[in-house]
Amino acid sequence: MATRPILVTGGSGQLASALSTLGASAGVPVRVVGRPDFDFDRPETISAAFRVAEQALVVNAAAYTAVDAAEKDEAAAYRANRDGPAELGRLCVAAGIPLIHVSTDYVFDGTKGAPYVETDPVAPQGVYGASKLAGEQAVLDTCQRTVVVRTSWIYSPGGKNFVRTMLTLGRTRDRLTVVADQKGCPTTAADLAGAILAMAARIDASGWDDAYGGVFHAAGSGWTTWHGLAAALFEEASRHGAPVPRVDPIATADWPTPAKRPADSRLDCGKLAAVWGVTLPEWRPSLRRTVDAIFQG
Ligand SMILES: NC(=O)c1ccc[n+]([C@@H]2O[C@H](COP(=O)([O-])OP(=O)(O)OC[C@H]3O[C@@H](n4cnc5c(N)ncnc54)[C@H](OP(=O)(O)O)[C@@H]3O)[C@@H](O)[C@H]2O)c1
Repeated sequence: MATRPILVTGGSGQLASALSTLGASAGVPVRVVGRPDFDFDRPETISAAFRVAEQALVVNAAAYTAVDAAEKDEAAAYRANRDGPAELGRLCVAAGIPLIHVSTDYVFDGTKGAPYVETDPVAPQGVYGASKLAGEQAVLDTCQRTVVVRTSWIYSPGGKNFVRTMLTLGRTRDRLTVVADQKGCPTTAADLAGAILAMAARIDASGWDDAYGGVFHAAGSGWTTWHGLAAALFEEASRHGAPVPRVDPIATADWPTPAKRPADSRLDCGKLAAVWGVTLPEWRPSLRRTVDAIFQG
């Protein structure tokens, strides 16, 4: 791997943190920038981050990720998810380096009834998904050497995520209700970071290949529902002596949220395997590893 660092945006976010941790253990120089020093709401801070180091590649893991809040905060969501990434793309072009930009399964409406491939029609259901889709188009239009990595259902031992929320609720409640009619591919931040670093290493070793450009799906292998994930989570947590609440399935209709979510946003990651030789681990063993990490502190 090059001695020039990978510049990662996203501060202490789940993916940025995992890239930093994995980079450190793999001997890959990773420089993470985040708020307040790097802020898409203050465009001058974006170019400032570029001036500090001669990076080999940029990974954009910063995003406005509050799916429900985005419904009422459209301007901020578009600043962080479209305008800021476009500026990153322009800076990458000027520096002659590639951009790996992370996007979401929420660009789909979830009605396909089978795992989505990259060429399937997009139809976001809310502002967050729409702003992320606009960001994909902006970076692809701006920077020819862009890899858009669409992922889904990210969680990690730290950060704000479904797994940690469930564990917290499970400590105080005997019974939880969890949506059982939304399907997706749970993805640990660590597994996604591993995939992204493998892609970066490949670019570094072989140089840019036009086959690397465009959209790729990268999510944990296999799939489940939010209810399935919660049930599996408490099974794993029970090995550490955690309380196991009853987890009752409910329908999306019984859990109204400001932003509509896709009912089935499973991602087909075959293109990632074919072009990059990268496959993320099965979601269930990854869940076990994450729960172990949470309880082993
Ligand atoms: N989480 C998921 O389930 C999920 C699913 C599919 C795709 N994704 C995508 O995966 C990527 C990584 O997600 P994640 O889970 O690591 O997200 P995360 O934990 O919410 O981290 C996002 C990071 O972006 C930063 N950020 C937010 N607004 C910003 C702005 N205006 N300027 C600069 N930085 C800003 C946040 O900073 P602060 O810490 O200061 O708030 C945070 O550090 C994102 O592109 C996201 O859209 C996530």
